[in-house]
Amino acid sequence: MCGIIGYLGPKSVVPLLVEGLKKLEYRGYDSAGVAVVDGDEVRVRRVLGKIAVLEDSLRAEPLGGAFGLGHTRWATHGRPNERNAHPHIDCRGEIVIVHNGIIENYLALKGRLREEGHDFRTETDTEVIAHLIEKHFRGDLAAAVRSAAAELEGAFAVAAMAVRDPRKIVAIKKGPPVVVGIGRGETLVSSDLNPILEHTSRIVFLEDGEMAVIGEDGPVFTDFRGSPVEKKVEAIAWNPLMIEKRGFKHFMLKEIYDQPEVIRDTISGRVSLDAGEVLLGEIGLGEDVLGKIRKAVIIACGSSYHAGLAGQLFLESLARIPASVEYASEYRYRDFLLDGDTLAVVISQSGETADTLAALRASKPLCAAVVAVTNVVSSSIAREAHGVLYTHAGPEIGVAATKTFTAQLTALALLALYLGQKKGVLGAEAVVSFLEEMQRLPHKVERVLAKAKAVEELAARFAPFAHFLYLGRWISFPAALEGALKLKEISYIHAEAYAGGEMKHGPIALIDEKMPTLAVVPRDRVYEKMLSNIAEIKARSGYVVAVADEDDAAIAGHVDAVIPVPKAHPLLTPFLTVVPLQLLAYHIASKRGADVDQPRNLAKSVTVE
Ligand code: AGP
Repeated sequence: MCGIIGYLGPKSVVPLLVEGLKKLEYRGYDSAGVAVVDGDEVRVRRVLGKIAVLEDSLRAEPLGGAFGLGHTRWATHGRPNERNAHPHIDCRGEIVIVHNGIIENYLALKGRLREEGHDFRTETDTEVIAHLIEKHFRGDLAAAVRSAAAELEGAFAVAAMAVRDPRKIVAIKKGPPVVVGIGRGETLVSSDLNPILEHTSRIVFLEDGEMAVIGEDGPVFTDFRGSPVEKKVEAIAWNPLMIEKRGFKHFMLKEIYDQPEVIRDTISGRVSLDAGEVLLGEIGLGEDVLGKIRKAVIIACGSSYHAGLAGQLFLESLARIPASVEYASEYRYRDFLLDGDTLAVVISQSGETADTLAALRASKPLCAAVVAVTNVVSSSIAREAHGVLYTHAGPEIGVAATKTFTAQLTALALLALYLGQKKGVLGAEAVVSFLEEMQRLPHKVERVLAKAKAVEELAARFAPFAHFLYLGRWISFPAALEGALKLKEISYIHAEAYAGGEMKHGPIALIDEKMPTLAVVPRDRVYEKMLSNIAEIKARSGYVVAVADEDDAAIAGHVDAVIPVPKAHPLLTPFLTVVPLQLLAYHIASKRGADVDQPRNLAKSVTVE
């Protein structure tokens, strides 16, 4: 998705904007630009391509200015090129804006504005915002932005500046996030925390329908009508170091290695072994609500959906609560039935996925309560749910989810234990026993990571293949799905995951020596059935690699290669089996020279539908 950034303060604005845009790169983009107000002029520099291209341009022709805006564009309307890159200006070049989102009525607005004499230069929806502000501008930028916002339909996070209302940045939010950082004598505005944290940890999150008017004395917050709004200033604990790569070649690899710590951090403070309890009062669901819950619906996209499939099994096995798992992008358009004893569990690491947010809003009035499982404090999904269970994974910069997937598994296991104990189906002894198994996971993941070299060597053999099959049953099916998605999204290789039992219903026709199979086969209730699947594949010249228990001496006789992982409680094996699959995808993609942290066509947070 697009990234916006704005700065007003004493520091040299262009280098600060460029550094900030680098912290937004992970969101995915195809072009970038900055704009500054320099005296009575707006100066704009935009490029097609990466931030490095913008830096080269600025080195060749420096830009000076007292305050400014920056933008990374992920094209939705209008081809990726310099002309369509943000920032965009009005007819006279006195108003400049950056935007994240989609203006759904831009064609109608563009037609009307053209009739009123406005000249358009780009194919974008965004440009209409600059001309609307120009149309309403009478010297007060905030008032003009409010009038423009009243005519916009769709999703927009906008920051604007005007030559004739200098030393001011106005930002508005409806849909995509807007975050304001309040420093000493300086203020920043951005799409997320990453560009802000090295300057200040004092953060305000705008809600839909709110505006920040940033001046020399800091920000003032109002609604779209101009009425003052009281906003809480939050101190965000993430520090810039957490965002750096710490010596790893890519953020994704660092984040794979962060997983032991992330599991520990997501458990920490939420369990009492002495009391035999999971302590999730932070979710904020009252006993009355918890007592009503008889079933659950889990709603998510992508990797979060895969975590939800594991969460479904946690809920039914631990809490004896039936749960369905729904793709948010499908569920929101269905005539779904929910009632007052259903808990909606909405999973989103970014907390900004448009489809997931829309599904939350559609479900909220109909169910007992909505609990968000998210990684970003005060994200839109966090703020609109009844309760939040935060994953403590820290910022995930790689577009491919890794540590946030594992953190979601951790949070969902804790939630299942919590609901099981609240419903009286799990006694203290059972809770303690499972928690002890969970607390062994970080060390077991470390043992998997210690054998990463073997996975890297396997990746070298696999890099040339064009198709892969991933197989798993029961709790290993979500792991297989997640492994296949990792390979697809960072190496651009075709990979399909199937529940093992589905092989005979069609996919087995795919098997030959050109399509290796990754079989996730810990020794659990479906182990024998998985061995049957493997035998069927081997009988058809298929090449099989098994991710299996390290003490399983028999598996090697069934497959071509084994990636061993420590044994774990049957429900907890995905924490271990997913790690080699993440590493395999990473090393195959690296060997293929792919842009691992910012894969083509992908965005870290899909804030448009
Ligand atoms: C996973 O590696 C992808 N980055 C993508 O599928 C992601 O999981 C999906 O877009 C959902 O994002 P969310 O968890 O932020 O809602």
